[in-house]
This record gives sequence, C-alpha cells and structure tokens, in this order.
Amino acid sequence: MKTYKIAAIPGDGIGTEVISAGVEVLQALAKRDGSFGFKVDHFDWGGEYYKKHGRMMPENGRDMIGKHDAILFGSAGHPDIPDHITLWGLRLAICQPFDQYANVRPTRVLPGITSPLRHVNGGELDWVIVRENSEGEYAGVGGRAHQGSPLEVATDVAMFTRAGVERIMRFAFKLARSRPRKLLTVVTKSNAQRHAMVMWDEIAVAVAREFPDVTWDKMLVDAMTMRMVTRPQSIDTVVATNLHADILSDLAAALAGSLGIAPTANFNPERAFPSMFEPIHGSAFDIMGKGIANPVGTFWSAVMMLEHLGEPAAATRLMKAIERVTADPRLHTPDLGGKARTADVTAGVIEAIERENV
Ligand code: IPM
Ligand code: MG
Repeated sequence: MKTYKIAAIPGDGIGTEVISAGVEVLQALAKRDGSFGFKVDHFDWGGEYYKKHGRMMPENGRDMIGKHDAILFGSAGHPDIPDHITLWGLRLAICQPFDQYANVRPTRVLPGITSPLRHVNGGELDWVIVRENSEGEYAGVGGRAHQGSPLEVATDVAMFTRAGVERIMRFAFKLARSRPRKLLTVVTKSNAQRHAMVMWDEIAVAVAREFPDVTWDKMLVDAMTMRMVTRPQSIDTVVATNLHADILSDLAAALAGSLGIAPTANFNPERAFPSMFEPIHGSAFDIMGKGIANPVGTFWSAVMMLEHLGEPAAATRLMKAIERVTADPRLHTPDLGGKARTADVTAGVIEAIERENV
C-alpha cells in the first residue's frame, strides 16, 4: 500500500479549524479506497510560533518538509503581527525557495451555491486562473531609505525574468489545452507598464506558437475585471502576474459565491520540491474559534492535492462528495448564508465519501 507523507501547516486563525477538517476527510478517503494511506505530520508554525521564537518557522523548517509528498497549508496572518512579516516568514518562505511558481486557482459555481451575478447559472462560470507565483510584484526587490525623514523613499520593484515568464506561459497554455474549450486569456497591463509587461506580451506570442490548438486572447487587467462580471461565459483559462492574479482571484471567488470555497495549489511542476495546497480565504480572525469556518476551500484544495499525487479516482470521489454537500443548503456555513458549522460540513462530506458508490 502506498503511504503519502503530508506536511500539515495549519498556521493561524481559522487555518487550524479547516486543516483538521481536511485531514479528517483525507483519512476517510484513504479508508474508503483501501489502496493508499496518509501519514500526516503537523507543524505548529505561524503567528503563535513567532511570538515564542521570533520567527514564523524554524530556520531548518524547509528541510523538515522538503521530502514530504505534499504540503497542506491553512493560512498565515496574525492580528498582532504585521502582515508582511507573516507572509514573508511562512507562505513565501516556502513557495519561493521550493520554486512553486505555478499557482492554480479554479473557480466554479458549485451545485446549490448562488453567484451574485444574476445572469449566471452553474456551468457558465468555470474558470481556472494561473497565477505567476515566484516573481513579478512579489519578488521582494526594493527598499526604504531615510526612514522617518521628509526625504524618505520606498520602492517595490516588480521583477520579471524571461525564464520566469516563459515557464508560466507554457504552464498556462498546457493547462488550457487540457481543458475542453482550449481557451486562454493572457492578462496584461502593457499600456501603462511599458517594460516588463511588454516583454510578458511578447513571450505570450512566442509561446502561443507552440500551442496552435489553443485559442488565446490578451486583455488589460482593468478591462478583465469588467469582462469577468459582464461576460463570464467568454472566459476559461487565465494567466496573469502575481499581483494581477491575486486581485482577480478574489473577484473570481466572490463571483462564484464565497471566498470560503475557493481552493489553490502552489505547484512546483518539475516535482523537485513538494507542492503546497491551501484554501485562499486567509486566517479570518473575526470568525476564528467559533467553529463556523467553511472547510470547502480546504477540501477542494485536497482534491487538487490528490490529482497531483496521482490519485484521480479519490480526487473525483472527494469532489463529488463536496458537490453533494454544497447542494444541500442545510450544510451551508454562514459565509454562504446558512447556519451549518465546520463539523456539520465535514461530517456531511465524510458520509458522502463512505456512502456513495463513486
Ligand atoms: C492569496 C493571499 C495572499 C497573497 C496574502 C495572504 C498575502 O491574498 O493567496 O491570494 O496576496 O498572496
Ligand atoms: Mg489574495
């Protein structure tokens, strides 16, 4: 029997609640399937760890998780610690050195969930956003000088490399090709940003030649927000820079009904390092400890993890169980307008996994 080694990093806020729900569901799937298992190691890194040790994770933290088959991550963010410290100290401290350059964010209106867009029914909104996850606006290049004086200066330089852009374009074209519509939108801002974004566009044109079967178009990011709202059916796969896709993916999640259901995968496609799977909702301190966090974002991220591990049958089974549960309004958490608790949704998904013949 195959045993997958999973590093679970719940992090802060509702991260702990949704990750323990996610692990329960994974164990139920393994039991139901019988041909594979999980060994889950838990790491208590994050804001509380920082308060004790002055850092978000141990210095040799990456060595402790570098040999795992996948990482299941909750969220990083703490009300007492500046956001840039929690982000750079944990999530980016894993993503960037592990070269998880392809961040994939599927968006669908799941059964039973209503999009705020009046004219959208389920099947009409089925997107996957590919976010460049290793450089661009998140490269960390820049600095501050003359702090506190009227001469103070601060820069954040968006840094794009040819290799970085080529690999994300190729990844996105491949992903678009694997989907039925074979349709890709390359998001840009080359009207205003006349250096890196122009190179981004040129590389898109060059990579597109390798994929003659993919239909693609180019869209300025501001216009893209309008298109997502007014013509959602015209979109399938999207590729955008780190920051553009960060913003577009929150809009996408809201248009699909709730940030609470949105999943993401941080892939190192070459598999030199483990990939990392996480819900995109963040730590949500306002509802922490109340037992009402929506675990669906974590479950859907676990679906992506199972696909990556090479367990497509279990992935399909879990996705069907999730859809079974979202279709039942009694199992909607407050973010979806319901009254269910994290534990109810988790029990519902586990029951569907055990019962259904999928
Ligand atoms: C995301 C989040 C993060 C990001 C935050 C928590 C720093 O918004 O994963 O989309 O901006 O990358
Ligand atoms: Mg975001």
